Amino acid sequence: MNFITTVLVLSLRVTNTKSVAVGFSSLLNLERPIATGERIIFDKVLTNVGNGYDPKSGNFTCPIRGLYSFSVGVLPMPNNLVIVDIYQNKNYLISVHGNDNAVFTSASRTVVIKCNKGDKIYLVNNRAPYQIYATLDLTYQHNIFSGFLISPML
Ligand SMILES: *[C@@H]1O[C@H](CO)[C@@H](O)[C@H](O)[C@H]1NC(C)=O
Repeated sequence: MNFITTVLVLSLRVTNTKSVAVGFSSLLNLERPIATGERIIFDKVLTNVGNGYDPKSGNFTCPIRGLYSFSVGVLPMPNNLVIVDIYQNKNYLISVHGNDNAVFTSASRTVVIKCNKGDKIYLVNNRAPYQIYATLDLTYQHNIFSGFLISPML
């Protein structure tokens, strides 16, 4: 292959590759008790490229099959225990444990998973009463749920 052919082949490849961007981040803007087993709905959307995240239900629905990363960060109320479970459909994946014996220590975890088109990722409170530090304090944004597509999978 000479130089011109190589450039042509490479540019054709780039043109043929559909670029897919999927990613969201959502914050928590609520202050009320959440029962054990209740969904935690991160309702204040910061980013929602691809519209996979629904701030009404708290579900992220994978728009295409692929490898995804999801992370949750929460700030427990001082002297409180917070446990947030991450689910994929009906399947429990991981928990975020925050035990704040002093004041204002955040807990955060990330999971990388394969997700089929239509799979739903959401968060469930594992500890009643509601013990996440939210307080309508949108200045500091203590709590966040984020996810993004790393790569589509055929
Ligand atoms: C959210 O996901 C759960 C678990 O798959 C499902 O039961 C529920 O119907 C979904 N809600 C919406 C509004 O999509």
